[in-house]
Amino acid sequence: MAEDLATLQIEALEALDQAADDRALEAWRAGYLGRSGRLTRVLRSLGSIPAEERRAAGAAANKAKTGLEAALAQKEDSLRQAALERDLAEGAFDVTLPGKPVAIGRLHPVTQTVREICDAFVAMGFSVVEGPEVELDYYNFEALNIPREHPARDMWDTIWVSPEGPMAENPILLRTHTSPMQVRVMEQTRPPVRVVVPGKVYRYEATDATHESMFYQIEGLAVDEGISMADLKGTLYDLARRLFGEERRIRFRCDYFPFVEPGVDMSIDCFNCKGAGCRTCKNSGWIEILGAGMVHPDVLRRVGYDPDVYTGFAFGMGPERIAMLRHGIDDIRLFYSNDLRFLKQF
Ligand code: PHE
Repeated sequence: MAEDLATLQIEALEALDQAADDRALEAWRAGYLGRSGRLTRVLRSLGSIPAEERRAAGAAANKAKTGLEAALAQKEDSLRQAALERDLAEGAFDVTLPGKPVAIGRLHPVTQTVREICDAFVAMGFSVVEGPEVELDYYNFEALNIPREHPARDMWDTIWVSPEGPMAENPILLRTHTSPMQVRVMEQTRPPVRVVVPGKVYRYEATDATHESMFYQIEGLAVDEGISMADLKGTLYDLARRLFGEERRIRFRCDYFPFVEPGVDMSIDCFNCKGAGCRTCKNSGWIEILGAGMVHPDVLRRVGYDPDVYTGFAFGMGPERIAMLRHGIDDIRLFYSNDLRFLKQF
């Protein structure tokens, strides 16, 4: 028995030495260590030898097994190392090849526009604040001079959160504009107030090239002693020139919003045709970019500001529309359809 094992080991190690690839290694493993391999058979035969020899024979056989397994592992390692060195020598890896480019993400065009507009106002001394998208009827309408039965509610097609809709006792909705933040900010601070409020707003609306049911607005509010329409004009003139070029001219016309008096809309002269008339300005030479006005005395009174002491201006604009004008985008739905071919261009 002892002699058998010794020759078996010598033979096995010699054979292993000859093995030159994975296939030969596997054949070797099966031949010695496999289920009917030579060493396995020796181990199995242990039961048939006399009990007094069995202990020593068992130990020797197990030692042989561990030895062969270790030799196999070592051989596998050296074959792998040799293969790697061969590949390197043959130039299978060209370490001088350029790596795979990593795709770099970027800010959404609307985010870029929102940030740019907010930065312009921060430079003029405004702070940036944000507010809730799920809003109370009180802030979205009531406190802005739009009571329950007011026909002006038709200006904002509303998505209601309360199941009873506008008939609920304390109706909840998705804000239809960022103007509710005018009231929330004034309730919480004393003048002077200078804030801009970027954020999402929602309308119950069929979508088309110029309408989305979710879009952004940027609200602005400035309240202090002695603020006049001239301040409103000067501030928005500065913005228009920053966004659309130094030579821009602006035009104000009367418009109606229940929470401002007087109310206006502001247009810029068409940067495309310089006022001559083209597709961008629908041949009018002017492009409307925002609504604005002097904060209504009733709105001030409701938040505890004395309208005889304080006056203010407010404005609201749509960054998608501004981005569309600046980049010549003709469909607002492109912003939110997640087509990377579109988004990558900005
Ligand atoms: N909130 C108005 C709208 O969504 C815009 C606006 C804001 C008008 C502030 C005047 C003052 O249409």
